[in-house]
Amino acid sequence: MVLFPACKLRPPPAQPNEFARAFSMSTSTSNRRYRVRMGPALALTAALAGLGCNYDALSVSDTDGEGDVRRGGNVTIAFIGDQGWEAAGQANGPRAVLQLIEDEGADAVLHQGDFDYLDDPAAWEQQIDDILGPDFPYFVSVGNHDVAEWDTDGGYKARMEARAQRIGVAWAGELGEMAALEFEGLYLVFVAPGTLGSDNSVYAEYIAQRLSANDAVWSICSWHKNQTLMQLGSKGDETGWAVYERCREGGAVIATAHEHSYSRTHLLSNIESQVIASTSDTLVISEGESFVFVSGLGGKSIRDQDRAGDWWAAVYTSDQGANYGALFGEFGVDGRDDLAHFYFKDIDGVIADEFWVASDFGG
Ligand SMILES: [Fe+2]
Repeated sequence: MVLFPACKLRPPPAQPNEFARAFSMSTSTSNRRYRVRMGPALALTAALAGLGCNYDALSVSDTDGEGDVRRGGNVTIAFIGDQGWEAAGQANGPRAVLQLIEDEGADAVLHQGDFDYLDDPAAWEQQIDDILGPDFPYFVSVGNHDVAEWDTDGGYKARMEARAQRIGVAWAGELGEMAALEFEGLYLVFVAPGTLGSDNSVYAEYIAQRLSANDAVWSICSWHKNQTLMQLGSKGDETGWAVYERCREGGAVIATAHEHSYSRTHLLSNIESQVIASTSDTLVISEGESFVFVSGLGGKSIRDQDRAGDWWAAVYTSDQGANYGALFGEFGVDGRDDLAHFYFKDIDGVIADEFWVASDFGG
């Protein structure tokens, strides 16, 4: 397993850490659909969290092929990006991830952009349909590799519009570019900072307007690109900070991709300045505090870790032996609409990150 280069040991807290409390609370619930398994490495992670340890590299748990961390809940979303394409009959990258999503019982995919890298919308959607079916809810934010065939006849946008109509999901705005929709009680906002032509401030203002006009327990912002400090590779500052900050102020989860690895921040009270509100593995999001993740291991390639920072709670790159996978968010677990359980699982069954999110909008 990997080291914890930025770990600063502090005196242990008087109370058990919140992760442990949430875990014990959950295991006492009688109507769970799925068994929870806490691997030794994950226990180490939780123990380090209890010691107030900020770590730049994550210890991952090898589930030995039997790990099943699913907890069910009202709705499960799979977050992916940077997918790629492989021929039918192969399942080493994108098709393996889609199969994982199917196997985990997800209710929808939120794809944070960069689809097949081939400018072939028909082949890309066929890859989805082959595994998840033509009526599986699949929502996207346009990525830079999707622009050429985004708004063409039979292009990605038209296909996503047809899909949403086919499954009876209405949206406001321009789907995949600057749009909002409700899915199973989740409020989803899609924008394209740094990718399409509008100034980043336009997307930021749109986010602020949509989030202030909605009182959903769960809101999620989705886009493709990054600010350099909000990814682990060599990506430049392409989105501006305002989109992040408007989502944080609105209490929305921030889903991104573009860099081909997985990373997730602690709870932040200022994203531009990387102000950490809490290092707990139970993140309580509210108006003013939220977190960011990059889920870019959808199948195209896997990159290494070039950057670090104490705001990162989880890091999963080729330096940690990462494989392709998806971040799963299960909303409404343990009978609580305001509680969500997240885990990143790769196609080898490794659980690279697991955390809880409570919404302050739940009352
Ligand atoms: Fe990209």
